[in-house]
This record gives sequence, C-alpha cells and structure tokens, in this order.
Amino acid sequence: MAARLEIEGGVRLQGEVSASSAKNAALPALAASLLTAEPVVLENLPALADVTTIRQLLERLGAEFSELPGGGTRVQVSRLKSHEAPYELVSTMRASVLVLGPLLARTGVARVALPGGCAIGLRPIDQHLKGLTRLGADIEIENGFVQARSSRLKGCRITSDLVTVTGTENLMMAAALAEGTTVIENAAREPEVVDLAWLLQAMGARIDGAGTERIEIVGVPELGGCRHRILPDRIETGTLLVAGAITGGDVTVTNAVPRNLSALLAKLEEAGALLEVGEDRIRCQGPERPRPTDLITSPFPGFPTDMQAQMMALIGLADGLSRVTETIFENRFMHAAELCRMGARIEIDGATAIVRGVEHYEGAPVMATDLRASASLVLAGLAAKGRTGVSRVYHLDRGYERLEAKLQKLGAKIQRLP
Ligand code: EPZ
Repeated sequence: MAARLEIEGGVRLQGEVSASSAKNAALPALAASLLTAEPVVLENLPALADVTTIRQLLERLGAEFSELPGGGTRVQVSRLKSHEAPYELVSTMRASVLVLGPLLARTGVARVALPGGCAIGLRPIDQHLKGLTRLGADIEIENGFVQARSSRLKGCRITSDLVTVTGTENLMMAAALAEGTTVIENAAREPEVVDLAWLLQAMGARIDGAGTERIEIVGVPELGGCRHRILPDRIETGTLLVAGAITGGDVTVTNAVPRNLSALLAKLEEAGALLEVGEDRIRCQGPERPRPTDLITSPFPGFPTDMQAQMMALIGLADGLSRVTETIFENRFMHAAELCRMGARIEIDGATAIVRGVEHYEGAPVMATDLRASASLVLAGLAAKGRTGVSRVYHLDRGYERLEAKLQKLGAKIQRLP
C-alpha cells in the first residue's frame, strides 16, 4: 500500500535541523567503487531508496558491502560477477547509468539497459555515449540495452553538446583509467561533480578543473581504495529553508554548504525571507507574505532545477505575479496542477509557468508525481489552511531521508500513514 503524508497546515516552523548528505553525490560515489579492487569507505551515506537501489545493482555486479563499527560503509568490488545493469533496476533509477563508465574502464565490457524516459522528461544519454565512443569504446544499442566494449580507453578531447551532470560524471570516471589525457569541455560544474573528483583523486586519479566548464583527467593504470565523506545535500537544505520561509517561521539548517546554494539564497531574499548565512549553517526567517519572484533554472551556479518546484510553492503565495522558466527538463511542472487543487493560480505556457500569487492554500488530498514535486506539495501543505494528504510518497523517499521527522522537529504537524 503506498504510504502517504498527512499535514495539518498553519504552524510556523521554528528551530534547528541538520541536512543529510546528498543523494546526487552518494550515487556517483558508490558507482566509483567499481573502479578499483580495493575497499572504499564512504562516510555519512544517506538512507534513501535510490541509495538502496544502486547498492542492489552494485551487489549484482560483485560489490560486497559492510557497515563499519566506527561509522561508514565499506564497499569492495574485488572481482566482477556480472557486467550487466538490468532493465528492472535501471528503469526504477536512471542514475544506474553511472555504472557504465566505471564498468567499461575497469573491465572493457558493459551492458546497461537504456534508462527510458521518466516523469520529468525524455532524459536521453546520447552525450554519455558520444563521449565514451570518443574515448574508444564500441557502443551498440540492441534490444533496449547499451552494449559497450573497449580494449583500452584512450584519452581525448570531448566537447559535450549540453551540460549534463551524470554525463560529466560518467566520462570523468571512464577517463580516470584511460591511457593518456582527456579534456571534457562544457562540463557540468555542480558541487556533486566536484565531490566525485575529490573521491577519485583520493583513489589516485589525476583530475584538474572539476567545478569549472573544463576538466582535465590524466589517466592512471589503476586506482586504489580510500575513505570519503559524502557532501551535504544542497537541495534538501534548500527545501528545509523554503519550509521556514513558506510558514513565516524561523528555521536554521546546519551541516550546510552556503556557497553551494547562492542562487537559491538570492531568490529566497528576493521573495522577502531574512537570511543569516554562517560557515556551515543558514538561518531563514520567513516573510509574512512572500514577494513575487521570477525564476529561470539553469546549470550550476544558476538556479537549480531541483529547487524549482519548491520555490513555486512559496511564490504561489506571493502578493503578485511571478514567472518561472524551466530550461533543463521539458516536463517539470507537474506539481503545478496539484498546487492548483490547493488553490494556487498557475498557468503553464510551454517552458514558462505564470504564477499569480494567492492569499493562502486550502488543504486537499494531492498526489506526488516525482521527487521534487512531492517536496513542493509537502511545503504547500505546511502553509495551507486545513489538512493536506500527499499520496505516492515513495517519490519523496527516493531523495529525502525521513523528511517528516525533520519537519516534526521544527514543529510541523505531519505524520506518515500506511
Ligand atoms: C542530474 O540528473 C540529477 N541526478 C538530477 O536530479 C538533476 O535534476 C539534473 O542532474 C540536473 O541538475 C543525479 O545527479 C543522479 P542531466 P542528470 O544529464 O544527470 C539532457 C533529482 O531530483 N541530456 O544534467 O540525468 C537531459 O534530458 C534529480 O535529484 C541529454 O539530452 O541530468 C536534461 O534535459 C532529478 N543528453 C538535461 O540534459 C544526455 O546525454 C540535463 O540533464 C544527457 C542529458
């Protein structure tokens, strides 16, 4: 039975909460363990459904996991049991495609199901495949699978047609063991790409420029094990800050990395929130009523697409009209229809949503459609008059670790029902 969340709105959230580590850093870090036969220890892995999924996939490939008494998860792929990422795992989590580059680099063979589309868009992996082909892999698509082979990957110059986060990560991992130097141009600059580069460097990789649009990787014959702490989740941090803003509350998020959130913080201030930014914490005092704020999503360091739905819930209560333009995914406004069922006034015109602010939301039964849409509905429920039920909350569990417990700690009247 799909669980759901019941929320009694109207409570101003108060207090302090700590952000967990980032799903979008944990997934590539786990995939990187395929690159060596030695053990890798990852600290602070988040307890998320997507992390469980990639662990299942890695176990099928030959990884052994153990929890260390002093904390940390030890993962070791002494030898490969399989080279195949099956459809049933890839279709539930498209980030499984992150095993493609490491498998190819480690063994010269990989067979990964094509991820197919998902709720928010087609999300092809042509840039991943173009880059691996440039590195010397033979790539064939057959029966819905990517069949990749390479005797030895050879370093080269790769210019991505568009900025792709997991594409950059896949190619960086493959290039780490290639012969010679690889330059990735038009690379993604997300903090999660930088975190992966740190992990790979700790394993012995030679990488320069991670975090810029040009990454240079000098291939090495083999990589070793290491210990690495996963980066805090900037999207969860942002979601918790919006929870403070939308309820007119006073919320401090610790274990934060403010420089990874500057575009979001700027928009929160534009919307009227009062912020205090510390070394590793951010305090957000919400306005009585948000101000209209236009948003355009773009790759890091621009406004993150993964925060678009959450900010739409906030500015849906503003005293005026806001324009939200989604430039990354072609179908990432599904939360809008559900917010309208709570009284929001939103019209979609292609890649732009026109959000006419309303005084308040009415609690209502709503349905989550994707990970960040479900967060948006929870936020609207926290501010709404009356009771909101968010169904299909398994979407939320993919990327948020015990979100309702964190919100309860801040005073929210929210509970999970079977
Ligand atoms: C990563 O997805 C994140 N996932 C996403 O987070 C995030 O929304 C996205 O980056 C953008 O920031 C992980 O890191 C595991 P892309 P990714 O490749 O890498 C197109 C969440 O909510 N594209 O940067 O799959 C693609 O269709 C998730 O946590 C191609 O056309 O995104 C999209 O329109 C959702 N060809 C755009 O580029 C390719 O080969 C950006 O995609 C690759 C991508």
